[in-house]
Amino acid sequence: MKASMLFNVQDQVCVVTGAASGLGLAMAEVMAANGAIVVMTDIDAPGLRAAAAGVQGSGGRVEPVVLDVCDPAAIHATIAAVAARHGRLDSVFANAGISAGAHIGMPGGALEAVSLERWDKVLSTNLTGVFVTMQAAAAVMRLQRRGRIIVTSSIAGLRGEAIVGYPYAATKAAVANLVRQAALELAPFGVMVNAIAPGVFLTGIADGRLKDPAVAREFARIAPIDRVADPDEIKGLALLLASPASSFITGAVIPIDGGATAC
Ligand SMILES: NC(=O)c1ccc[n+]([C@@H]2O[C@H](COP(=O)([O-])OP(=O)(O)OC[C@H]3O[C@@H](n4cnc5c(N)ncnc54)[C@H](O)[C@@H]3O)[C@@H](O)[C@H]2O)c1
Repeated sequence: MKASMLFNVQDQVCVVTGAASGLGLAMAEVMAANGAIVVMTDIDAPGLRAAAAGVQGSGGRVEPVVLDVCDPAAIHATIAAVAARHGRLDSVFANAGISAGAHIGMPGGALEAVSLERWDKVLSTNLTGVFVTMQAAAAVMRLQRRGRIIVTSSIAGLRGEAIVGYPYAATKAAVANLVRQAALELAPFGVMVNAIAPGVFLTGIADGRLKDPAVAREFARIAPIDRVADPDEIKGLALLLASPASSFITGAVIPIDGGATAC
């Protein structure tokens, strides 16, 4: 089969959470560049407007929707409305996430210093937000007996990782196992559920701290490739997991980390 068919997402309908920036924007870009209709969602309304205009400017078909993944009713309403509007829902990227703020070597990052307020906020965004997004996607995909749910976990969900904080590590491990659990249940319905586990990508996460070259340099050291990744480097895996090429992949948590988890 030609690559153009294997990776064909033309006219598919796709939802991405956290699509205004970083990895979510890259996911939206690659889906739109390959002919999908992309519902770009984010809590950051001005950022979303600008990001959607950029994708549209490159010829993509996008529908921006302001959505806070900490609002379960809004997630259900958004995804149900997309399915009703288009009569199909092919892929959902449950991607929105935030950092823990302080990692374990920083002031405020030690186990006994982690505030419960931050713990709750990270759990509500990175775990409950992903869980509810998966629920809303499954409600549509189970009935249509087809679909792809793609969750953004992290290599910090696969092992201890000194450059992240406790609530972040906990949520990323939790979503990796949610993916495995949902894959078991949804496989008979033709719904594939997988996770991407990125290493360090140069995005806006952690209040843009990674954009400081000294921080990026320090974080690059976790990977044998010895650099941080450009968000564009997520695109191949994102397209693979949304396309026919991954028809036998489900319940997988796939690192994309410059070799960090090989260490
Ligand atoms: N950048 C990395 O190195 C890295 C590594 C592993 C995993 N990840 C994961 O990738 C995902 C995307 O992060 P990123 O690195 O692109 O960061 P980013 O900050 O560039 O993008 C995250 C986007 O999510 C949005 N967002 C935050 N809270 C939200 C909410 N409540 N509802 C809806 N949208 C919300 C933000 O406005 C932003 O546009 C996250 O789940 C993150 O944990 C990132």
